[in-house]
Amino acid sequence: MAGKKYHVRDLALAQHGRKRILWADQDMPVLRKVRERFRKEKPFRGLRFSACLHVTAETANLVQTLRAGGAEVVLCASNPLSTQDDVAAALVKHDRIPVFAIKGEDHKIYYRHLRAALDHAPVITMDDGADLVSMLHKDYSHLASRMIASMEETTTGVIRLRALAAEKRLRIPVIAVNDASTKHLFDNRYGTGQSTIDGIIRATDILLAGKRVVVAGYGWCGKGVASRARGMGSKVIVTEVDAIRALEAAMDGFEVMTMKEAAKAGDLFITLTGDMHVIGKEHLRLLKDGAVICNSGHFDIEIDIKALKQMAVKEEKNVRNFVDAYTLPGGKKIFLLGEGRLVNLAAAEGHPASVMDMSFATQALASEWAVKNRRKLTPQVYDVPKAVEDWVASLKLSSMGIHIDRLTQEQQTYLSSWNIGT
Ligand code: ADE
Repeated sequence: MAGKKYHVRDLALAQHGRKRILWADQDMPVLRKVRERFRKEKPFRGLRFSACLHVTAETANLVQTLRAGGAEVVLCASNPLSTQDDVAAALVKHDRIPVFAIKGEDHKIYYRHLRAALDHAPVITMDDGADLVSMLHKDYSHLASRMIASMEETTTGVIRLRALAAEKRLRIPVIAVNDASTKHLFDNRYGTGQSTIDGIIRATDILLAGKRVVVAGYGWCGKGVASRARGMGSKVIVTEVDAIRALEAAMDGFEVMTMKEAAKAGDLFITLTGDMHVIGKEHLRLLKDGAVICNSGHFDIEIDIKALKQMAVKEEKNVRNFVDAYTLPGGKKIFLLGEGRLVNLAAAEGHPASVMDMSFATQALASEWAVKNRRKLTPQVYDVPKAVEDWVASLKLSSMGIHIDRLTQEQQTYLSSWNIGT
């Protein structure tokens, strides 16, 4: 692969990928609007971008938007199992975009692909999980002083970057795209809610009605999954470590208990905490025969897969696509989906285009803001400007044919006064 201009599974898949990119584009009206303006204004003329994102049809439309704005973009995968090989092929063949991503790539190739993206010497990076920025700080620190900024797409990545900033080791400005309202309130909640259920159903074909579904973590992603599982007729149990979120889950009507209690009760387990070993050895041994376990948090660390493998007396790979069976001493079978990686991207297609429309319009506009403000930015974690969020939300509403009221002059005056009481 050394020196290669791209690395994808098979360029013969390009035509199919192209169709899927166009299909997704139909449901991304806000991003399209941004692309039309970028095409005229060229805010990124001649700037090098390296994006480390899930290589999906929706990401392809983001990359084309950056390219329309004049950027020279290289794309690599942000997860070894999330790449859509046909989309990667279409980007290379039809759009001449260097892509380094193959579904199922091993650890070594995954990092080689990241290096290929950084060899492009970007001034803007886009990350989904902070792997690219992390590598930049370790092995490519000579690029840092020329960098304009990096965009971070996901909760886990923002947590890592804030940790880097807290240690005073962050060397580039970072925009926490995940924290924008137009991202996490919709993508994390409704996107993860739907795509996680979609991945589980595609992998297993199980009936959710009547099942006891354990959702670990009640952040925006957990809230989305819990609500969708309930909508499918499941009895949902939530586990949490945060007292406020646990209370929220309880008052939203879910059963709340410890993982030790839930382990004995659940039929299906979904982790979305961002932390490690949420389903650990002590829980695995309590699971019921036939329990299905999967993860929809960013990294494959939430289930202690090493412990599962050590405990198992038998391991059967691919009893169905994306399903591995583990037999524990005594004969119980546990089914692990998508090797414990993001089940929504491993076994399904990730979030639908309509919700990625908002996330990626926010990404594109946050990048434009960074370029415009490049002289003022310093190495710290920035929020997306409120004006960007408002613009994305307003345009999404109008694309849905929804009109909302405006404050009258009288109401504005009332809201800005302190002396009008009863
Ligand atoms: N993250 C979750 N779903 C996604 C998608 N469809 N495209 C890119 N990133 C995603």
